[in-house]
Amino acid sequence: MANERTLSIIKPDATARNLTGKIIDKFESAGLKIVAQKRTRWTQDQAEAFYAVHKERPFYGDLVAFMTSGPIVMQVLEGEGAVAKNREIMGATNPADADKGTVRAEFAENIERNSVHGSDSVENAAAEIALCFEDKDIVG
Ligand code: CMP
Repeated sequence: MANERTLSIIKPDATARNLTGKIIDKFESAGLKIVAQKRTRWTQDQAEAFYAVHKERPFYGDLVAFMTSGPIVMQVLEGEGAVAKNREIMGATNPADADKGTVRAEFAENIERNSVHGSDSVENAAAEIALCFEDKDIVG
């Protein structure tokens, strides 16, 4: 499997409950390396740009409001098959469907307050990483 990079975001519901370290432990224990990390709070414009692909979805407004409601931790994760591996660690989008032991099964509150975001393809990962980090701040 190829060495890949993926974008991860620890969402405001998780930072509010001080779960950053517990979530990072799951990534690192599974062999993913954190090659960039930044805690920030998105503006409306940043959240709208990041989730532009969901613009027509009924949950878009709520999603943007939630993602700007508190701090987030953005990360670039690197490793063999990192995109799929991170999605496995996160579990299904809706925590009700997430497998035992996954981040969302353990920590997510509901489908919106679902603790983490992860890129869904190598192509989207590259675009999302470029939106969130400068090349010089990614150190493998
Ligand atoms: P995320 O991986 O960040 O990508 C889009 C987000 O929209 C998703 O996780 C969910 O948190 C959120 N969302 C809210 N409602 C829905 C829904 N009905 N279907 C899919 N995603 C939803």
